[in-house]
Amino acid sequence: MRILVTGGLGFIGRKIVLTALEGGHEVRILDRTPALPSTSTVDVVTGDVTDAAATEAALDGIDVVCHQAAKVGLGVNLQDMPAYVSDNDGGTAVLLAAMHRAGVDRLVLASSMVVYGEGRYDCPEHGRQPAPPRSKQALGAGQFEPTCELCGTPMTPGLVQEDAPLDPRNAYAASKIAQEHLTNIWANQTGGRAIALRYHNVYGPGMPQDTPYAGVASIFRSALLGGEAPQVFEDGQQRRDFVHVADVARANIASINAVTRDATAPYRAYNVGSGEVRSVHDMARALAEALDGPEPVVTGQFRLGDVRHITADSHRLGRELGWIPGVSFADGMRELAAERSDSMT
Ligand code: UD1
Repeated sequence: MRILVTGGLGFIGRKIVLTALEGGHEVRILDRTPALPSTSTVDVVTGDVTDAAATEAALDGIDVVCHQAAKVGLGVNLQDMPAYVSDNDGGTAVLLAAMHRAGVDRLVLASSMVVYGEGRYDCPEHGRQPAPPRSKQALGAGQFEPTCELCGTPMTPGLVQEDAPLDPRNAYAASKIAQEHLTNIWANQTGGRAIALRYHNVYGPGMPQDTPYAGVASIFRSALLGGEAPQVFEDGQQRRDFVHVADVARANIASINAVTRDATAPYRAYNVGSGEVRSVHDMARALAEALDGPEPVVTGQFRLGDVRHITADSHRLGRELGWIPGVSFADGMRELAAERSDSMT
């Protein structure tokens, strides 16, 4: 298969490219980062996905697009909003229109678990209840768990499935939902086929580091390598599912194979997580132990727009596409700790 990977020089994109090549696919990369010239195995096009001409040219001869180019992270503040919308939504709109012109009708889209907002919660008294955004006041008072609107009791999080309501809590999440909606519309209007992969917290070799948009595992690793304690926000009990980049790359290849078969639905979304839910404090401790560094410090600080727990059920991807995660939390964190710093970006 001839695959175009947008953002193919990024953290996740690079791993997808390598995995696709190992699987015998032909790969072209479209990425705005200036890169080494194309090799005999990979064709690298330097260009921005928001640039219609560059994107259309990159689509020449392609069977399926794997769209990873995006601005990620929570964002530093509201001034990031225009860039999330133009890079993620503008870029996707330009790509979809160019795909239609070029007659390329298969797409795998990188989405995110943040599309669910706080996801699913149960009150011990009132059962399933919505979890409204956490106010600055509540967070400042150290009240981190979402509370029941009816009785104010802290609620218990549950695993979110793909048909849960979409409920963005920050600009990045809103931009990912818009990408999904645009893709769904494209599929229905053109007869195309698309799969959206809603990633949990992706980590592993090559993670971006030393930028405000780096994931928490990379931030803690950098702190520990500098001899400093990881700064754990809130009370450290916020839960995440840390999924290894190699597993995410395999999920993309499984989706590329599925979406190029005619039997698939026009549009299907899948959660992509390891199934191992850990607190951020546990993750900090695992890295501190592996690097023989100082104990993590729980600071009580918070970021507005952060969701408390992100825990979803990723079984649909296994049931329908045969994907199972291969890297355990313990092995993955040890590997991340042991990675040489100069091999990270
Ligand atoms: C992450 C991804 C996002 C992805 C989502 C899917 C990054 C930067 N963000 O968002 O692209 O869509 O997962 O689930 O990779 N924290 C600390 N100390 C710090 C920094 C963060 O305790 O120094 C805490 C945060 O408050 C949060 C948790 O760690 O509770 C995770 O933060 P972060 O790595 O930024 O990821 P998400 O917001 O979960």
